[in-house]
Amino acid sequence: MTKYHTYDCVIVGAGGAGLRAALEASSRTSTAVLTKLYPTRSHTGAAQGGMCAALANVEEDKWEWHVYDTVKGGDFLVDQDAAEIMCREAVEAVYDLERMGLPFNRTPEGKIDQRRFGGHTRNHGEAAVRRACYAADRTGHMILQTLYQNCIKQDVTFYDEFYVLDVIFSEDRVAGVVAYELATGELHVFRCKTVLFATGGYGKIFKVTSNAHALTGDGLGILLRKGLPLQDMEFFQFHPTGIYGIGILLSEAARGEGGILKNANGERFMERYAPTIKDLAPRDMVSRAIYMEVKEGRGIGPKKDYVHLHVDHLDPKVVEEKLPDITEFARIYLGVEPLKEGVPIQPTAHYAMGGIPTNVDARVVIDEANTIFPGLYAAGECACVSVHGANRLGTNSLLDINVFGRRGGLAMAEEALRVDFAPIPDEPEADTVTMLKTLTDRKRVDPVATLREQMQVTMDENAGVFRTEDLLREQEAILEELQHRFARGAGIMDTSKRYNTDLLEGVELGFLLDIAQTLVVSAKARTESRGGHARDDFPNRDDVNWLKHSLIWKTNGSYKLGYKPVTITRYQPVERKY
Ligand code: FUM
Repeated sequence: MTKYHTYDCVIVGAGGAGLRAALEASSRTSTAVLTKLYPTRSHTGAAQGGMCAALANVEEDKWEWHVYDTVKGGDFLVDQDAAEIMCREAVEAVYDLERMGLPFNRTPEGKIDQRRFGGHTRNHGEAAVRRACYAADRTGHMILQTLYQNCIKQDVTFYDEFYVLDVIFSEDRVAGVVAYELATGELHVFRCKTVLFATGGYGKIFKVTSNAHALTGDGLGILLRKGLPLQDMEFFQFHPTGIYGIGILLSEAARGEGGILKNANGERFMERYAPTIKDLAPRDMVSRAIYMEVKEGRGIGPKKDYVHLHVDHLDPKVVEEKLPDITEFARIYLGVEPLKEGVPIQPTAHYAMGGIPTNVDARVVIDEANTIFPGLYAAGECACVSVHGANRLGTNSLLDINVFGRRGGLAMAEEALRVDFAPIPDEPEADTVTMLKTLTDRKRVDPVATLREQMQVTMDENAGVFRTEDLLREQEAILEELQHRFARGAGIMDTSKRYNTDLLEGVELGFLLDIAQTLVVSAKARTESRGGHARDDFPNRDDVNWLKHSLIWKTNGSYKLGYKPVTITRYQPVERKY
């Protein structure tokens, strides 16, 4: 029996963006947060190095410089009106968290301390600037705990381990969502006036990734299936310093604190690729540099396929105090002592620049004219606002979730106070019942894990740091074949009701395959290189033809692309040198 609930506002996801939105919405409306995890297990907790804001606590800084760095770091695909809002509101966003109790590291005078991070510079690229506010290398963890504690203090209603599988539209606006309760297998319909998706990223389309198992693109998948577009899906960020072979993140904060990268010759190779800011160049450039070193035979190890991150020349006290987690990760996962030797690293799939298109109030927009879909919101990594353009700067994501989570929470509450509930159609859970039944009824020809592994390995090979027409064409065919095998025989073994993670992994694979296809189709079409999208066959940025956002729709099983202009306010595109 389906259970019914009614709230003004529903937030899907309890990472930083969802919790920040919940704090705003719940102060004025009845609000529920639905999360497929326990809230403090959300992936915001894995963010390490910092959250940037031009506080100028340790050296001169200006929010306008932050905008410039964000736009240039994003290879000029950033919507500059959105970046201006984010960088201006960054300062208050940090002080908000401080007031909520976040234990930031401090300067000797007691101010919030700040460290350097990739692509953040003083006065339009002169030199690296200290802009990242941090709590050791556990900044995301601290943000998540702080926001959650404040939600508890404010009596926000949580539905933990409730997996949203569908959104209900009626009269061309939001009417509610359908959720699956992991503990019981029961379906729940949440009737609401507004819903905000804050479901995070989809790094699990790749094999070597810093993303947790839960990052399967559910919010994007749900809306894509509802006929809504996704934006800039070809732009995926590879973080330069993943633990070799595993992909777990070793924070850029290591380089912010003075760490450097070296190749097999012991050479600090970033001096050749980015002479001004060297190891603190944006991530897309550093990841490509690592690949070039490996390709040209200067990689390390038996397969010569990694380089070293060095912090062994730094003061051990600084390393132990400011980078405690990542040094421990190196010891645990690689058996390496970072205080004495280089740590093997390789680029790891880290962050999706693309996602659900929104305006600056986190309202979802559905076409080239930015038409708003009433009642529908998205914030955080699942959204594309677009403040990161073609490549996000480190520490701008913890900022993004706070700024646009807050703005989304405010806007959804205002809309909910203004409008009535949309009528709920008969049997709103019918599509969800059919989807789940299809998975449980069909024969298990291919285990879900096998198909997922094949998708991930081939995505790494064909749609990773470097791409070509041939590789993308091959990947398109592989994904079509995997979709076919998924539909024909990715059956579920566990047919029980309680804690059926087998079933939900099947659902998640369906979303992942759809999302992987949107990435590959968008990447094949974009015949240029920009930010995180590097085409070996089209190595240059092409502003004449490609200074535009992509939109992708899925209708009747096939994908359609559209494009819309980039908003440029202050900074005309120039060559990107560091
Ligand atoms: O390297 C890091 O600490 C990651 C930060 C980020 O993705 O913003």
